[in-house]
Amino acid sequence: MSETTSQTPCEEFPQGIPTIRVVAMPTDTNPGGDIFGGWLVSQMDLAAGTVAASRANGRCATVAINNLTFLKPVVVGDEVSIYTNITHTGRTSLKIHVQTWRRARDTHVTSKVTEGEFVFVALTDKHQPRPIPPLSTKEELHDSCNTTI
Ligand SMILES: CC(C)(COP(=O)(O)OP(=O)(O)OC[C@H]1O[C@@H](n2cnc3c(N)ncnc32)[C@H](O)[C@@H]1OP(=O)(O)O)[C@@H](O)C(=O)NCCC(=O)NCCS
Repeated sequence: MSETTSQTPCEEFPQGIPTIRVVAMPTDTNPGGDIFGGWLVSQMDLAAGTVAASRANGRCATVAINNLTFLKPVVVGDEVSIYTNITHTGRTSLKIHVQTWRRARDTHVTSKVTEGEFVFVALTDKHQPRPIPPLSTKEELHDSCNTTI
């Protein structure tokens, strides 16, 4: 009998590039025992910040977090996977859609738990906005291969 490797029960699958995967630990909980929302947001900010710094070739700051939604709780032991997708490149800013998915440690079932839009501004050494550089050929090739996973 063949083993089913993916049992995501809904039609929706993660959108974007897999950027961070981490296991939720007891130190990440809120007083109710579920995973603390602020911890999840920090993981999302870290993932989006990694992508922003790479795309902007340098320092960036989070300037806004829009439409952040917590859809389902995350519990200790869950594998937490964060997916990112640059949706808009402005003069000095980047909008990055971020999704978080959970997989219970002992199952193959995954579900989306949070999503939102993170806005980053590329900064100079003096903390002033600086233009986002054009995409290099290598980045364009990478993007065309990773628009949806
Ligand atoms: C980042 C910072 C230097 C930008 O300064 P600013 O005066 O807002 O700069 P600007 O008005 O020139 O805006 C820069 C870009 O950010 C965008 N932007 C600024 N505020 C925004 C917001 N709330 N939502 C979406 N975009 C925003 C602007 O549209 C502009 O984009 P564009 O150049 O692509 O058109 C300043 O806001 C700052 O230092 N913020 C704190 C950042 C920080 O500490 N983050 C960590 C939080 S713990």
